Amino acid sequence: MLLRTGQFTFPTPPEQLFGRQAPLVLEIGFGDGGFLLDLASRHPEWNVLGVEISPGSVRRARRRLRQAGLTNVRLYLGQARFLVRQVLPPRSLHSVYVNFPDPWPKERHRARRLLQTSFFALLSTRLEAQGTLRLTTDDAPYFAFALEAAQQTGLFRIEVTEPPPETLQTKYARKWQAQQKPIYHAVFHKAAEAPDPFLPTIERYDVMHHAVLEGVLPKLEHFEKLVHAFEGGHVIFLEAYRSLDGSGLLFLARIEEEDLVQEVLLEAAPREGRVLVRVLPFGLPLSTRGTREAVRYLSTWLEAQGMRLCEAFF
Ligand SMILES: C[S@@+](CC[C@H](N)C(=O)[O-])C[C@H]1O[C@@H](n2cnc3c(N)ncnc32)[C@H](O)[C@@H]1O
Repeated sequence: MLLRTGQFTFPTPPEQLFGRQAPLVLEIGFGDGGFLLDLASRHPEWNVLGVEISPGSVRRARRRLRQAGLTNVRLYLGQARFLVRQVLPPRSLHSVYVNFPDPWPKERHRARRLLQTSFFALLSTRLEAQGTLRLTTDDAPYFAFALEAAQQTGLFRIEVTEPPPETLQTKYARKWQAQQKPIYHAVFHKAAEAPDPFLPTIERYDVMHHAVLEGVLPKLEHFEKLVHAFEGGHVIFLEAYRSLDGSGLLFLARIEEEDLVQEVLLEAAPREGRVLVRVLPFGLPLSTRGTREAVRYLSTWLEAQGMRLCEAFF
């Protein structure tokens, strides 16, 4: 049920993720998964995909959906923009639901809002003809912002209606109704497609990069966060640990590139008299420019600690 970044190609045919061909329906920011569960059980004829950036929510929703025994749902922990732009093929989406998106009310956080002009333009290329996005929100300024953004693209026909009963059952819907807040709803019908096809930009490598060094691994009495920026992204080495048997080092790194965020473990460990630096397969990471940069930067850092690079595969 849980999709891993490492299993994606760019794009990925949805039938590969679901094992069958069916209309694809996406919910962005599914929170506790209640709405996804309702959607998937009422529509066994749909392939229902959910994307959510909160690991705790994904864990809870997954448990809930698994208990319900549903087979037509897939969950992805990550950024909606990454999934839509990089993974979903052109015209693959039947419909999209966004219930109570984070409003990001401060002016300086405006760029973090999901439903902005650039997203509507992208979405127009991923929705099938007559595909729709359905937005429900309690936030009047966000609602006005989204309507205006969609209008500006000229790619959607907008219908403002009463929220359908099922969108009034989500956790946030119940919370805002209890506070007597009005709830707004709009359906954005795809009317045309943006001229830019928004082709995927992430390149996937078939192999993981690695390096071989000679010398003694540093003792690591203390470790300070390392940041490496590269074109289109950056790697942050957040923490370092000694492996349980004391012979190798492990590094927790956060890699951000083009809306894709991966937290990976890199290892520098003795192998046949030398030291192998590699990304561990834990969590099925995707081999990208970012993971390559992480291996390269870690190798350079180890060289600065007195080791010598013998073989570089990056
Ligand atoms: C206010 S909550 C609403 C949750 C749920 N839809 C409901 O109605 O109860 C917004 C949710 O969207 C998720 N979210 C925010 N930005 C996101 C993004 N770019 N991609 C995926 N999920 C996102 C948040 O983690 C959060 O769970």
